[in-house]
This record gives sequence, C-alpha cells and structure tokens, in this order.
Amino acid sequence: MLRSFQKLDRNFPKFSVSKLFQIKRHHSAEDLDPDGCGLDPFDVSFNSPNFPMSSTEMLSKDETQRLTSEVEHILQSKPTYPSVKGWKFTEKELTRLLSNRTHSEDLALFKTAASATEREFGNETYFRGIAEFSNKCEKDCKYCGIRRSQPIVQRFDMSDKEVVDAARWVSEYGYGCLLLQSGERKVKKENERVSRLIRAIKKETKSETYPKGIGIILSVGEQKPEVYKEWFDLGAHRYLLRIETTNRDLYHKIHPSFNHSFDTRVQCLKSLRDIGYQVGSGVMIGIPGQSILDLARDLLWYREMDLDMIGMGPYIHSQHTPMCEEFEKDYWQAQNNVTNRDDWDWHDSDFSQYRDMEKWKRYRLALRMIALTRLMCFDCNIAATTALQAIDPFGRERALEIAANVVMPIVTPKKYRKNYVLYDGKPCVEEDKEECRGCLQARVTSIGKRAVFNQWNDPPHFLRKQIHKK
Ligand code: 5AD
Repeated sequence: MLRSFQKLDRNFPKFSVSKLFQIKRHHSAEDLDPDGCGLDPFDVSFNSPNFPMSSTEMLSKDETQRLTSEVEHILQSKPTYPSVKGWKFTEKELTRLLSNRTHSEDLALFKTAASATEREFGNETYFRGIAEFSNKCEKDCKYCGIRRSQPIVQRFDMSDKEVVDAARWVSEYGYGCLLLQSGERKVKKENERVSRLIRAIKKETKSETYPKGIGIILSVGEQKPEVYKEWFDLGAHRYLLRIETTNRDLYHKIHPSFNHSFDTRVQCLKSLRDIGYQVGSGVMIGIPGQSILDLARDLLWYREMDLDMIGMGPYIHSQHTPMCEEFEKDYWQAQNNVTNRDDWDWHDSDFSQYRDMEKWKRYRLALRMIALTRLMCFDCNIAATTALQAIDPFGRERALEIAANVVMPIVTPKKYRKNYVLYDGKPCVEEDKEECRGCLQARVTSIGKRAVFNQWNDPPHFLRKQIHKK
C-alpha cells in the first residue's frame, strides 16, 4: 500500500487540484448550469441541485413526491447487500426506473447505486491507458467518425515503436494496464502485428512491480476464435467488444448489412469468454430510434452474458455520418411534421436546440443506465466513458460518483488524436498523455476518490468466478 502511495506522489504533481480549477474555469457557468438557476457552478456533485436539469421536468411538489416514492418503493423491495449478488429487476421495473421525470427520482436511484459501488470498491478508481494505435477500419458503422467510408479522416498507423513506448510509459506511471484499440481489420498481416505488439509489450514491461508485464486489453473488433486464442496465449487477458444495442432490428439499421451481423458479434463475445478472456461489452445510449424498453433489455442482456466489464456512453452525432445526416433529421422531421425536408434549414436554431435537448436527455439516460448496471452487476468493472464528458464537462466525475470505477486516460501521441475522433466534440484531442494524466488524476481526487496504481485491477466479478470454478 505504502509503495503505491509513494509511486503516486512521484507520478502525480501536487498541483492537481488547482489544475482542476483551471478545467472548471474553462467552461462557462451556462455550461454547468443550463437552466440558469444561479447555483454555484463549481459544485459538481450529483447530490447538488446544480446537477443538469434540462431533461427532467419541473413538477409540483406532490407529484414529485409521488414519483420519488415509486422509485424508492422499487429499490427498497430488493434484498439488502451484501447478501445478494446484484439485484434482479424485471423489465417493467427497469423501464420505470429509466423513465424518471424528476431530479429527486434520479437522486434516489443514484444514491443507491453509489452505496453499492462504495460497498464493492470503496473509493478506489482503476486507471488504464488507452492507445488508439490505428484508425483504419473495414467496418462502416453508420454513426462512427472513423468508419471506412468517412471522407474527412486521414488514416494512420502508430509505429510498433510508438506503441511499445506508450506501453513503457503506462507501466512507469503506474496505470497497470494498456488498452490497445483500433479500427477492425481482419487481414493476416494486421493480426500478426497485434501478436507482435503483445509479445513486445510483455517483454518490455516485465518488472518487479509487474512480474507478468502490464495487463493488455484488446479492442480490435470481430475476429476468428483462433486469432483470439493466439492473442490470449501470448498474454492479452481482457477484450472489449461493444454490442452497441441488443435490439436486433436497430442493430441492423445502424450497421450496413454487407459485413455486419448481430449473431456474429454475440458469437465473438461467447468465444472470447470460452477462451478465458475477461470480457467487456456495452451499448450506446440514445441512438435515434432506440426505446426505453430496448435499454431495459440491454441491461438484462448484460447479466445474461455474465460480462466482467461494461463500458457505455451516450450516442453523440458525428458529422458526415449517415446517422448524423439522415437518421436524426428523419426523427426530427417526423416529430415536427416537416413535410418537405429540402425546404428546411437544418442549421436553423430549432434543430440545434432540439439536438441540444436530446443530448441532455441521453446524458441523463446514460447515468441511469450506469447506475442500474451497478445495481445488477455489482462486482463488474464499469468505465466512466469519455462520451459523457463530451456532453457535460464533469460527466466522467458524475459517472464515478454514482457507479463507475474505471477511467481510461488516452496515451495516443497527440499528433494522431485528431484522426481518432469517433464523435463530434470528443474531449482530450488537443492534449498529450502527460496532460491527460494530471487532468484525470485531478478529476478523480476532486470527488474524493483514490486512484489505484501499479496493479492490473481485474474485475472482482471475474476473480469470483475463478474461485467458484476451483
Ligand atoms: N457516439 C457515441 N459513441 C460512439 N462510438 C462510436 N461512434 C460513436 C458515436 N457517434 C463508440 C461505439 C464503439 C466505441 C469504440 O465508440 O460504442 O464501440
């Protein structure tokens, strides 16, 4: 323990809190207080009435009370921790909890989730470095800023040396694990490259602190089981592959049919688990056309798949993608009885206001999803994803306060970052790895959490499963 504190002191400059204030000053009071209720914009807690209210309604006191009692009733009807391994909710209960209309209902849910998080993880937060080592992708997901047919992206590959340097840096600064993420490429040459990188990273990062090298997490898409197996045997031990939505029809609507299949994706997740990986997945929240029922079913699916890690965030539009250019407009058109689309000025403030409103709705929904995930999958690692921060400058802090226990500072060299922008307004694009380190450390400490260094920090859910197997 002492060792890790000593490391912490060495690794993280003491200016962290003042750095946080710089971050805070960076954003206007309106950003933090969209309703203009005049509260202290620097109070970032979800307990604070300052919490963004845009997507919740202002109802009478009695009505608010009635709704809040409904939420409390559902939550109190569950057995108490720690005698249970995650709560079981019905589809109906989940739909109700995802449909909260007021801040008080959300508060009841968030507080319950926060205490479940504290029970399992105390105030610990796990860090993983993420190296986005290539944006070349065979897939053409209709929402993604680096999709194959995206015209504006300049394609890049980090060199092997750059990746290994990033890994060395990760090990030196105590993150414990490196996530290697890229677009999906199934060709042999690229698979061999990943194998080569795993070998090199393991070799270069073995030390007294990491007898087996740093932990390697892969997120390089759908591959054949034998490829997954080869990487696992070389030492990668976690894999992230998001399902994006478990509504099969919606899945096929947002992915082109020529090289996407829902069943293949589920099959990949199953084979990863059979091989022995710690498996992570997740969904996007607020995809145009997605319903609350879809999200409730996503949550039930997490449990059914027995996931070890969950990462999810709000859908955010990405310029020049079909989802941004078509689906969102279709949706708005239907809601507003616009008959001839070509007559409409899409830069008009009505549409941008609508987009803004939708964005905050998605944000609130995302926090509810994260809270419910913690209650259902209490010992999984849950990531505070960057997409939350793209909407609320303190989005990641809020996820951590409520239910998340993992953050992933980016370690990709700055020169590549502008070409790995999956959605508009992605944070951290103008920063380098040192800045991300100081900033995230400050964010974590600002909410009373403690970063845990120099360990792999495997998900307790996976470790418990291992013990039961024996
Ligand atoms: N909005 C939010 N998340 C996105 N991702 C890709 N594009 C977007 C977007 N427009 C997420 C997907 C993917 C992960 C790498 O990034 O969930 O799996």
